[in-house]
Amino acid sequence: MDWGMQHRLANIIPRETGRTVMLAVDHGYFLGPTGGLEEPQKTVTPLLPHADSLMLTRGVLRQCIDPRSRVSIVLRVSGGTSILTELSNEEITVSIEDAIRLNVSAMALSIFVGSENERRTLANLAKLVDMGEQYGIPVLAVTAVGKDMQRDARYLSLCCRIAAELGARIVKTYFCEGFEEVVGGCPVPIVIAGGKKIEERAALQLAHDAVSGGALGVDMGRNIFQSDNPVGMIRAVRQVVHEHKTPDEAFRFLTGLRGAAA
Ligand code: 5RP
Repeated sequence: MDWGMQHRLANIIPRETGRTVMLAVDHGYFLGPTGGLEEPQKTVTPLLPHADSLMLTRGVLRQCIDPRSRVSIVLRVSGGTSILTELSNEEITVSIEDAIRLNVSAMALSIFVGSENERRTLANLAKLVDMGEQYGIPVLAVTAVGKDMQRDARYLSLCCRIAAELGARIVKTYFCEGFEEVVGGCPVPIVIAGGKKIEERAALQLAHDAVSGGALGVDMGRNIFQSDNPVGMIRAVRQVVHEHKTPDEAFRFLTGLRGAAA
């Protein structure tokens, strides 16, 4: 692997633990002003020191993120659809030149295996990998987005393996029963999405189960920025992912912060 590719991956995965806490705030690219991200700058700025990387679109990056920030950028480069239409009908929405200009550490794109646009999104991934590899920029493939997706081990194994076979350097998917099977069948590291907002103790359990099951870490959004204490929550997630704390220990930390603030 070339130095540039290795360096960018190391920007996302701190070598001290070999795990990662990615903060996903790209939801607006098809959901519009998602709850908690109506004013991205206000929400994201206090979280930046606690995130190993930030996953977002170029519009929000340019308008809302201080370029002096040291956070690594995972740029969402697929889109072109909205929640009102067929989500899987995506295109590559950013040129490789713009990704380079933005000094990104990775580019992220969704694939929709089993959807009517499966072929198009897999071809998008292959094209993006070709461009990324040419310049040493890793591609993160996002699988299983959409409310009708099965999200069981059989389906997620299929998606993740295809993403890796097409050249993704990291795959983002969902946690499921039998997650070890998904990890075992995927030759590149996996990070998990948090999904819809759930109770904080349960979200910490999810992060714990994912890393215990072999995930590289989390690429979590709503369960952090929709928490009533987003900074406390990302710090608690870091304790689980990087410090091997139990969900109970991390939750006690989080509730302790609330108690101290009261
Ligand atoms: C959607 C995405 C989001 O970044 C992803 O869903 C992660 O956020 P959350 O933890 O809120 O599910 O990739 O395509």
